[in-house]
Amino acid sequence: MNKDETHLLIKSLLSKRDVKSNINFDQKLDEYFFGSYCTHELKVNNGEEQAYQHLSSTALMTSYLDYYQILKDIPPDQTLCDLGAGYCRGTFLANYLSLNYCISIEYIGTRVAAVKQALKKFNYPIDEVLARNLDYYAIPSAFAYYLYFPKNKTLDTVIAKIFNQASPYLYVCESHGEVLEYLGLFKNVTTIAYFECSLPRHSSQIIKYKVEALNENINWEDDFALWFIQNKHNKAYTICFKYYSHFLAQYLDWIISINELELITHNKNIALRHDSGRIILINEGEEITKITTLYKETLLKVKNKKFKKILKAESFWLEIADGSYEKFY
Ligand SMILES: C[S@@+](CC[C@H](N)C(=O)[O-])C[C@H]1O[C@@H](n2cnc3c(N)ncnc32)[C@H](O)[C@@H]1O
Repeated sequence: MNKDETHLLIKSLLSKRDVKSNINFDQKLDEYFFGSYCTHELKVNNGEEQAYQHLSSTALMTSYLDYYQILKDIPPDQTLCDLGAGYCRGTFLANYLSLNYCISIEYIGTRVAAVKQALKKFNYPIDEVLARNLDYYAIPSAFAYYLYFPKNKTLDTVIAKIFNQASPYLYVCESHGEVLEYLGLFKNVTTIAYFECSLPRHSSQIIKYKVEALNENINWEDDFALWFIQNKHNKAYTICFKYYSHFLAQYLDWIISINELELITHNKNIALRHDSGRIILINEGEEITKITTLYKETLLKVKNKKFKKILKAESFWLEIADGSYEKFY
């Protein structure tokens, strides 16, 4: 099939919206790009397997049809950057059909190796695929970003990096049902369009957002979500929460280091998830009392001790896992 025929076929599939035909089309393109590798290896371990057991593993990746919709939506010669790109279907499609550029970032070495091998076979540029861990590396500047990524701490980091770019567009496919609501926390993110997903997903639409760059320093009391995203890299911060201790029969500050926390929504409200899994309901009784760098030294002193919570009234207290308390100083 030549390129013109492929364009026509894609347009026809997008108008029919038949899942089986879409999966079939994706599998054909995977076979074309990856050859025999694809039948065994081409799957994205993204935790969606349980939800979509009736679908083949290739259907867990974003369909080429949806990369087509996105790449066609951005102006000519602009770049899309796929953050957590799996087998980098966007980059293959962009090269195959001479669409806009698609830079793919992925950290699983075997995936990147297979992708680079296939890119070389077609003489497509290998520098459009970056083997990088989004937790540690800067992201390239781009006109638009694509995210099909679960809500976790890495996503907080990725969002912070996107907010530092010069007002990009952002396309998001819902992963486990938490990401779209989470993006609703940010006043600098505006929904501007929807595209129908070509494969079954938690949300049937890919959302297109406009992101306004953050030029001002946000005060946590004015907008906690934006403050958190802007400051989460600063590990010196501790956040203190209002906490009632039955043992001491009084309210204390529960001190947590910012790097142990993830910003989430819980029952549509802003909340934080601690590394232990505990959800802190900052709008429902566990309000933030202060945010400070003053307790950094104290946290270092207790680093090797086993405890559940570090609390402060006049003194510092450690709440031990068995419920007992130890006065620290
Ligand atoms: C749900 S898949 C989506 C793949 C592709 N964008 C798609 O839509 O088909 C998410 C991808 O993000 C990658 N990923 C997860 N954490 C990452 C990190 N810290 N750095 C880079 N990639 C990461 C995973 O390995 C996985 O391939």
